[in-house]
Amino acid sequence: MIKELVIDDFQDFLKLGKMVNNNFGNLYDLDNLLNSKADKVIGYYENGLLVGFIHISISFDVVDIVNIVVDDKYRRKGIGTKLLNYIILSKDIAEIWLEVRKSNKSAISFYEKNGFSLVRVRSNYYGDEDALIMKRDVNMKDVYILAIESSCDETSIAIIKNGHECVQLTVLTQMDTHSEYGGVVPEIASRMHTENITMVLEETLTKAKMKVEDMDAIAVTYSPGLLGSLLVGVEFAKTLSFVYNKPLIAVNHIAGHIYANNLEGNLQFPLLALVVSGGHTDLIIMKDDYVFEKVGGTLDDAIGECYDKVARVLGLKYPGGPNVEKEALNGKYTYDLPIPMNDDSLNISYSGLKSSIINLVHNEKQRGNEIRKEDLAKSFQEVAIDQLVRKSEIAIKKYKVKNMIVAGGVSANKMLREKIKELTDKYDINLSIPSMLFCTDNAAMIGAAAYPLYLRKEFANLDLNASSNQEIY
Ligand code: KG4
Ligand code: ZN
Repeated sequence: MIKELVIDDFQDFLKLGKMVNNNFGNLYDLDNLLNSKADKVIGYYENGLLVGFIHISISFDVVDIVNIVVDDKYRRKGIGTKLLNYIILSKDIAEIWLEVRKSNKSAISFYEKNGFSLVRVRSNYYGDEDALIMKRDVNMKDVYILAIESSCDETSIAIIKNGHECVQLTVLTQMDTHSEYGGVVPEIASRMHTENITMVLEETLTKAKMKVEDMDAIAVTYSPGLLGSLLVGVEFAKTLSFVYNKPLIAVNHIAGHIYANNLEGNLQFPLLALVVSGGHTDLIIMKDDYVFEKVGGTLDDAIGECYDKVARVLGLKYPGGPNVEKEALNGKYTYDLPIPMNDDSLNISYSGLKSSIINLVHNEKQRGNEIRKEDLAKSFQEVAIDQLVRKSEIAIKKYKVKNMIVAGGVSANKMLREKIKELTDKYDINLSIPSMLFCTDNAAMIGAAAYPLYLRKEFANLDLNASSNQEIY
């Protein structure tokens, strides 16, 4: 993980500096460093341990490297390059300058490999030794990522600029086909992805008036999802990466749902994420990009799964969520359903609620009673969403959050959006929920989630494989 150091991290910073240079502490006036707007220290962490940092000083679009330090035990792992790239790719800068002892051959070779060249020699700069002044020009170019999503029943491709701007998005849904079967049929889904993916790519590129050659990387969802469907996207992405010689980025689908919130704003850390989809119902604390800590969630079924099951027993068509929501619009809260997890924990549960609805419908049918679909849909939705609001409130209080996001297909639900908004207003918390287009499965969110990985050059190899159930937390 790479992040800018804050005051609490400076003991680790001094410790690491002293390992490399006994005099290190004396070289730094920490108060000055912390109060300086121009100076920044970016740290590289492995397993929570600071193992390298770069100290820079910024003046307009020119950066001076003051110091790069990497723990001896972590040398030759590309950490110095990653720290340099972090600066180059994340800041609007034109030039990077540095000075280095003439005798420090390994440092000079490192800088040369990273695109620095000699500008001049400063004689006796270090008293008894010359300094080489080196510079690297940085072209402030935009980063375009071609992103592919095929984890379930949507074949989607997007072009994302600089991690935040959706230049073009195509979503081809197979919903109507699967609707005839009452749910997604995996075999049919993967076959349809194969038939359509080339066409979806062509349409995306044509509308954007761009070519694969214009892209800086190819990103693809590799997990979780239906294995056969994922494989179509992964193999397609690998082929593009190989043929066009572009780096490949493997993106987790759930990270995609979370980063959908970057398409119209900026994730502000630390934040609380409520992830609600067909396979997930989780409460996550994120302290930084790609740092996920699960603090609560379902012990059994996911809320989306429960919506789909309730739709089925009510005889509503696939996809269940939106149809249950529509039905509930005309209903009243009349059915008495069990309240799940009515406690202070962050545990969530939907299997009891699901079973009680199945039993209720079954019993009423046996008695020859009519089910008031709209009332049952409304009663279910109230209880299902109330649980999410209650548990979010407990998490807000426990973790004292100031930012909250909602992610995943179920975040398209209007009642959930309204109730969470009321909750965050009550606690004066910034709330971000993606607009409808970016809530349900789409490739734009995959491009947004790929961007932080692009900045860190965390690329996948061509032996990347799909996985049906790889979690991020
Ligand atoms: O995130 P998503 O598109 O796919 C997964 O990654 O699982 O979420 C799909 C789930 C389905 O269970 C669907 O019924 C549910 O999200 N969903 C909704 C709504 N729109 C989609 N649930 C409730 N209300 C909605 N408006
Ligand atoms: Zn999804």
